[in-house]
Amino acid sequence: MSIDYDPATAYAGKTVLITGGAGAIGSNLTRAVARVAERVIVLDNLVASPRWNVPSLPNVMFVEGDILDEVKIKRVFFERPHIVFHLAAFFANQNSVDHPENDLMVNGMGTLRLMEYSVLQGIERFVYASSGCSIYGSAAPLPLKEEFMSMHLSTPYQITKMLGELYANFFWHHHELPVVKTRFFNSYGPGEVPGQYRNVIPNFIYWAMKGLPLPITGTGEETRDFTFVGDIVNGLMRAGVLESAIGQEFNLASGRETRIKDLAETINAATGNKAGIRWASRRKWDTKSRLRASVERANTLIGYEPNTRFEDGLEQTLRWFRDNWDRIDAAAAFGPGVSSAVREMTVEQDGQEA
Ligand SMILES: NC(=O)c1ccc[n+]([C@@H]2O[C@H](COP(=O)([O-])OP(=O)(O)OC[C@H]3O[C@@H](n4cnc5c(N)ncnc54)[C@H](O)[C@@H]3O)[C@@H](O)[C@H]2O)c1
Repeated sequence: MSIDYDPATAYAGKTVLITGGAGAIGSNLTRAVARVAERVIVLDNLVASPRWNVPSLPNVMFVEGDILDEVKIKRVFFERPHIVFHLAAFFANQNSVDHPENDLMVNGMGTLRLMEYSVLQGIERFVYASSGCSIYGSAAPLPLKEEFMSMHLSTPYQITKMLGELYANFFWHHHELPVVKTRFFNSYGPGEVPGQYRNVIPNFIYWAMKGLPLPITGTGEETRDFTFVGDIVNGLMRAGVLESAIGQEFNLASGRETRIKDLAETINAATGNKAGIRWASRRKWDTKSRLRASVERANTLIGYEPNTRFEDGLEQTLRWFRDNWDRIDAAAAFGPGVSSAVREMTVEQDGQEA
């Protein structure tokens, strides 16, 4: 579906607040919005991202702070944003199983506070980063369509990502806050630093570049809908300004499936890693065998088209790793108190957003 959309016109003169703008998706969104908007304000407490991931651009203002800290929230709303992209989150499944109260505070209370301030400020658009891997549960038919939702979720993260959507609905119906709920699947691309709680693609690349076997938690036949971050950013930017998005929820996915075993073999081949793969037991919460989203609704509503071929997206990601290896290696977060080689061998990983 072709939709009338010119980002330069739509974002001209706008001040845009991006929470989590130092993160994997947020840093890419910040860079893209800064190209067309008047100003971008980034609020991020750097708990999961290095400072260098925040794009250093003349019209980007970085505020280091927590979305639970009202002083920092007041500080960023003082800049009078027109549009809010709320991406800051306690990420993701295993992290929330390990720390459920932190997850509720950040993803629940933090999201509620930002919506309250957005109402007070009369924000033009509030775009919420939801998670398709979360709210459809394990029993939904493929392709995953927006109308199917599950009440049987597997982790606190999945529950609080859904909670954010429920708050968004409340603020839309009661306060007429113009919300949009965008549901991502497994995002990948430049900007995601590997770590214990990160997604499978950056971790596989990291281990492969260190010559370590890639751990598969499951049978390897599991599939995921890997979506290139540039496609998600395009969808988000449309969601930020197109009228047709208001009050809606839709998937921003690739619409394609990739087997985890194929992914591991592709990454080993691309990096020349001879260590192969190793098998690890499946995590209890990881109950999904296949994930593939429908992108029909996003296409109809906002003209979303995920055009990036998986091979091209992976190549761009690999290039980013090679170009930034030293600082990625220094920032990779695999938990304190364990030597890095041991950590790499013990972390089980098949996609934190699984
Ligand atoms: N990456 C995916 O595959 C995926 C899939 C579905 C949904 N999502 C959602 O998209 C959003 C962005 O994901 P991402 O992969 O870029 O995550 P990310 O962890 O890379 O980015 C989130 C950012 O928020 C910051 N942050 C965390 N807690 C904060 C707090 N209390 N105050 C201020 N900043 C805080 C982190 O430092 C980080 O830079 C998240 O809301 C996530 O739940 C991501």
